[in-house]
Formats: sequence, structure tokens, C-alpha cells
Amino acid sequence: MTHSFDLVVRNGTAVTASASSRYDIGVSGGKVMALGEGLGSGRVEIDATAKLVLPGGVDSHCHIEQKTAAGIMCADDFLSGTVSAACGGTTTVMSFAAQHRGMSVTEVVADYHERARPKAVIDYAFHLIIADPTPEVMRSELPDLIRQGHRSLKVFMTYDRLRLDDYQILEVLALARREGALTMVHAENHDIIRWLKERLLERDHVAPKFHAVSHHALAERDAISRMITLAELLDAPILIVHVSTEGGVDTIRSARARGLRVYGETCPQYLFLTADDLDREGMLGAKYCCSPPPRAVAAQKAMWCALADGTFQVFSSDHAPFRFDATGKLVRGPSPPFPEIANGVPGLEVRMPLLFSEGVLGGRIDIHRFVDLTATRAAKIYGLFPQKGTIAVGSDADLAIWDPERLVTLSTEALHDNVGYTPYEGRRVKGWPVTVISRGRVVVHEGRLEAEPGSGRFITRCPPEWAETEGRSHDAAALARRFGAEKIFSNL
Ligand code: URP
Ligand code: ZN
Ligand code: ZN
Repeated sequence: MTHSFDLVVRNGTAVTASASSRYDIGVSGGKVMALGEGLGSGRVEIDATAKLVLPGGVDSHCHIEQKTAAGIMCADDFLSGTVSAACGGTTTVMSFAAQHRGMSVTEVVADYHERARPKAVIDYAFHLIIADPTPEVMRSELPDLIRQGHRSLKVFMTYDRLRLDDYQILEVLALARREGALTMVHAENHDIIRWLKERLLERDHVAPKFHAVSHHALAERDAISRMITLAELLDAPILIVHVSTEGGVDTIRSARARGLRVYGETCPQYLFLTADDLDREGMLGAKYCCSPPPRAVAAQKAMWCALADGTFQVFSSDHAPFRFDATGKLVRGPSPPFPEIANGVPGLEVRMPLLFSEGVLGGRIDIHRFVDLTATRAAKIYGLFPQKGTIAVGSDADLAIWDPERLVTLSTEALHDNVGYTPYEGRRVKGWPVTVISRGRVVVHEGRLEAEPGSGRFITRCPPEWAETEGRSHDAAALARRFGAEKIFSNL
């Protein structure tokens, strides 16, 4: 018998960032070929009665098989990381190719491609961490890599071995604007953190909870404000990652109100954890040490508001997986002082279920905003759209068939990463992806892997949506123009 399609998903309610409707989805050659009722037969048929059919998630901030500047390897490689992501409804991960000082970015990127290619079960792209913007990197390596489809760079304003100074950040912003890449920023004021850290250590305040004291909320607000100033000077788009504070939200909101191309992201740890989680018995608080740290309930409320009112465009996991043992969190010994604890929390698999359960079912955001935050907008901002992030004829058939009624108790045993703990142990969520499809292939069904390692592909990205627009309030060049020096801004 010949079939009209490779796969048909029938009877579900398809949801995009702007609409929901009952229709079947016909897929061939990995692409959505038809949307409508009563489509012809598929070689594979999936019944989605009583289910939502969502665009597969795009997790645009996660750390997979990445080595820290201190040489600690993440607990998840491209197999466990992508399996875990898929089990939680994500079909595209954007992780990092991390340059450390003295390294060639070109070699680093080649290395990450080698690691991902044989293992990934879903599609992936890389942001390029720039820790050493040498003349060679800036003049030759980055322009080539961006043109090859790596259209985002990440810079750090803190961490001894990663941070750039303002001059270097301006150089990166100018290059990114010229070449059509987005600059992502880890924005915390390094010297505020350093000063507080040294005062705490002097007084022997070494427990994990003091990590939250040292990464003060004002350090975030100040760095976001400074970063926006640098971006405004050059009219360069930026995305502030893992925003955690009310001050950070307010600063981004007012920059956006002035028409600047400033995007914001938050993550599950800033909605569901607080600084009190770092104050657990013995070293247990180390499991919750990430940067920036979880804050107070008032900050959680501000994060929910910013997700609902559009101040934030993306909701990512910042999955930074380190086991609670000598390979990860406790690599410097069984009770290291807080600055020596590996930073980061896992979240790839629980990102979408947590936001669905507490955001959509909790009445804080509607289902379209959920889709926008978890898939569509990241695809647009990072240059993956319309291949990824939506359900449309011609798009990749990346789908999460979602049971909105399923009750799940989050537990380490039930998750598929390699971290050995979850910060959300015992939390009950409602809603879970039953079947997850990437380019028409069933990757996971009922938590079982059905795809081959290496079947995920690297996605070459195009110049993203913001490349077409100018920041509206940009008048930083006005005086230079009047005095005939405008080329310093226009010809970056
Ligand atoms: O604590 C975190 N977030 N670790 C991962 C690295 C980063 O800063 O994103
Ligand atoms: Zn960061
Ligand atoms: Zn991160």
C-alpha cells in the first residue's frame, strides 16, 4: 500500500505561538507537508486524541559536554543531554562551544562538532563563548564562523578566567553587529562579587549559602545596566541570559520601552528555587549553587511578571550539570568553601513541564505565550525560524505530543540526565510530553529512546529577525555625525 505521508499525527489540538486548532499534521521527508482534517494515510500514524501538539521546544541556553575554565567536565554528554532534553519535550538544543584563554575558537568549534555529531539524538546549534578576543579571533576566526552559521556569541562580565573588560565587550559587540550575530551576556558586576566574597571568606563564612550573599542582586542590576549602555552606544542587539532580580527586570523593561534591541531570558531556578535552598544541611546547599543564585519570593514574582508581559522573550534551562560528588560539585574536596563549588543546576528535561504546570495551568501565562517562550521566540531571535519553533507547512516536523492531564512527580530516577539529583525532587507537575518527534522521527515515546545516537543534526543558522531592524532610540551617533565622524559608528 502506498501512503500519502511518512507520518500523520491525527486528532490532536495543534498549538502555535498565535493560534490553536484541531487538525492533522502530515509529515514527509522530515518536514510538515500538510495541515488539515482528514489527511491521507501515513506509513506511521499517531493518534493524538485529547493531546496538545506543540512545536518541539528550543532550549537556547544549556551546557552540554562543556569543560569549565577550571577544567571540570559537565556530567552530560551529547547523548545523555539530548535524550534528557527530548524526554522533556525539547527538540533543539543550543549549547556552547567554549573558548578558554589561549585557544583558537575555530579549533574549539571543530572539537564540539566532533563531540556532538556521533551522539546527539535531536538537532543542535552552538553559541560561541569568547574568553580571549585576540586579533586573530576577531579579524578572521569569528567572521568565518558566524558566516558558517554560528550566529551568536556569549561574553561574561564576571568569572576570573572568562570575563572581558568593557573595551573588549565593545569590540565583540561591534563585530557581532557587523557580521549579523547576537551577543549573549552573563551580566554580574565582577568586583562587587569579588569584594563580598573576600569579606565573607575573611570571616570564615564558607558554607554554600554564602554564594548567594556574594552574588548580590545589585551586582546583576549594575552589570545589566552597564551592558545595555555599551550596546546602546553601538546600536548592537544583546540578550541578557539568566536574569534573576527585580532590578535586572526593571532595567531591561525600561531599555525595551526606549526601543533598544535588548532581549531577556530567565530559567526555572529563578521561578522555583530561592536562596534558602542553598541553606540546606551540610553541603547539600551546593546542589543549588548556580550563578546568578536563586533569590527571594519577591524576585520569583518579578520573573513571572516579566515572562507574562513580554519583558522576557525566552525561557531556557541554563542546564549546567555537575554531579554532587568529586567529579562535579565537590571536585575541590568534600566540603569546599563556596567559591570552589562548581556552579550550575540541571533543568533540560523539566524546563517545559515546570512552565506548563505552574505557568499555563497555574493561570500565569496562556498556552500561546508558553509556546513562544519555550520554542518560537528563541528560534526567531537565534536565526532558526521558520525551520524550528513552529508548526507550519515547510517547517521541520519537530513536535511534542503533550498530555495536559498527566501527573508526574519529579524524581532523579525518572529523569534521563546524568546528574544524579534534581533540585525539584518530589515536586508534582501536571502535563508531560508523551511522544517527541524530531524531523518526523519519533525520538522518545513514554520516556523510551527510539532514535539512534548521532541522528540529531547541526543546524546552520541564518541572520535572525532583529538583523532587519534598527534600535529606535539610537542617537549615540548624533554628535559624531554633526562633526563628520559618523563612520566610527556606521562602519564598525
Ligand atoms: O551557574 C551557572 N549558570 N553555570 C553555568 C555557566 C553560566 O554562567 O551560564
Ligand atoms: Zn552565565
Ligand atoms: Zn549558562
